[in-house]
Amino acid sequence: MSFPAMTESSAEYSKAKNLFPGGVNSPVRYYDPYPRYIAKGGGSRIYDIDGTSYTDYCLAYGPLILGHAHPSMKKALSKASEIGVNFGAPTEFEIDLGTLIKSAVPAMQRMRFTSSGTEATMHAIRLARSFTGRKIIIKAEGCFHGSHDYALIKAGSGALTHGEPSSPGVPDEVAGSVAVASFNEIDSFKKVIKEKAGKIAAVIVEPVMGNAGVILPEKSFLAELREVTSDNDILLIFDEVITGFRFHYGAYHSQIGIVPDLITLGKIIGGGLPIGAFGGRDDIMSNVSPEGRTYVSGTFSGNTLSMLGGIETLHALKGANYSKLSEMTGKMCSELSETISKKVKCTINQIGTMFQIFFEKESVRSYSDAIGSDQKQFLRYFRFALDSGIYMPPSTFETNFVSFAHTYDDLQKFISMTEEFFRQ
Ligand SMILES: Cc1ncc(COP(=O)(O)O)c(C=O)c1O
Repeated sequence: MSFPAMTESSAEYSKAKNLFPGGVNSPVRYYDPYPRYIAKGGGSRIYDIDGTSYTDYCLAYGPLILGHAHPSMKKALSKASEIGVNFGAPTEFEIDLGTLIKSAVPAMQRMRFTSSGTEATMHAIRLARSFTGRKIIIKAEGCFHGSHDYALIKAGSGALTHGEPSSPGVPDEVAGSVAVASFNEIDSFKKVIKEKAGKIAAVIVEPVMGNAGVILPEKSFLAELREVTSDNDILLIFDEVITGFRFHYGAYHSQIGIVPDLITLGKIIGGGLPIGAFGGRDDIMSNVSPEGRTYVSGTFSGNTLSMLGGIETLHALKGANYSKLSEMTGKMCSELSETISKKVKCTINQIGTMFQIFFEKESVRSYSDAIGSDQKQFLRYFRFALDSGIYMPPSTFETNFVSFAHTYDDLQKFISMTEEFFRQ
C-alpha cells in the first residue's frame, strides 16, 4: 500500500498531532497511518496537497449533494461577503429558507435553525421531554444523532469506528435516561415501551440508518413504530440529518407516508455550511422559547451565511433529477455486487444516492450484522481505493454518497477499481 513515509500530508499530520487530539478535529477523519490533507475540491473531485486527485464519495459526510464548489455556493458566499455573515438579529433569509423547507417538508409546521445536526437532535430531545413531562428516550443501537451526551449511547459513525459506541464521560444518570432497542426489530421497541410504560418521552431513529453503514428500514418497521408510539402517547422523532433532501426534494418520511412528530435536518439544507434544524407539530414547537419555556439558543443559529447557503442549494435542488442519479447509483451497486460476489461474500446496501459495502456478510439489516462484517477487508479495500484515486469514508460504518456532479464515468471507475482490487 502506498502510504509513503514522507509526503506533504504526512508532514502536515506531524504538525497536527501537536495541535489536535489524534491530529484531527473529528474522529472519523483519521485513518492509518495518516489522513491525506485536502487542498481543494471541484465537482465530484478533491485534490490533496501532494497533488493527487480523487473522485469523492465522502462529500464532507453528506452535505455536498451538488458536489464541491458548486456555483450555488459561490453565489451564496459572494452575497454573504457583501452583506455580512451574521447579525444576531432576525433576517429575511431565515424566513426564505424556512419557507422553502416547510413547503418541501410540511410536517415541519414550525422549526428552529441550529448550527449543526448535533444541536438539532439535542434540542429536539429536550423539547420532547419538556412537552411530555417524561424523561426516557429510546434510541436504536447504531443510530447516530450527533455527539451530545444523550446521543452517545450505543452510537454509530466514528463512535463505532473507534470502538467507543458509548462514550466515557456521559454521566450514568444521562445514560440511564436513554433506553436502546434494535433497528428493524419492532418487538424490541415494544418490549422497552412496555417495561418503561408511562415514562417515555420519545423514540428517536434515523429512518434509514446511515451511521452503521447503510441499513434500510424493513417494510413495516417504521409504520409499526409510528403506530406503537402514537398508541402510547410517545413522540416519534425522525433524525433526517442525512436523509433530508437526499432522495427527493423533501424528507424521506414523505416518501414512505409516515409523519413523525418532530424531525431533525442538517447537512444538505446548508449546502456545506454549518447548519441544523428541528421542527414538527405546531403544538410541540410552541413550547420552544421565547414562545414557550423550553430553552434553545445559539449565537450562530440562523446566521446569514448558512441561510444563504441553504437557500441557493435548495433552489438548485428543486429541478434536480434525483431519480436519474438514484438509478445510476443503483446500477453501479448491482455491478459492484456482481464483481465482488464472484470473489467473496458481500452485501451492498443502497438507497438512492447512499451505499455501503459490507464484506463477508450475506445480508446486513441490523447493527450487529454490520459489526459482524469483515472490517479488515474493508480497510484494505478503502486503502486500495484511495491509492486508485477514489476517496471513500474510511469506515464500513459510514455511508458513501453520490452527488449530482458525479458522472457515469466516475461510477464506472469505481467498478474498475473494485475489479482491479480483486484481481490483485
Ligand atoms: C443522522 C445524523 N444525525 C445527527 C448528526 C450530527 O450532525 P452534525 O455533525 O452536523 O452535528 C449526524 C452527523 O453525521 C448524523 O448523521
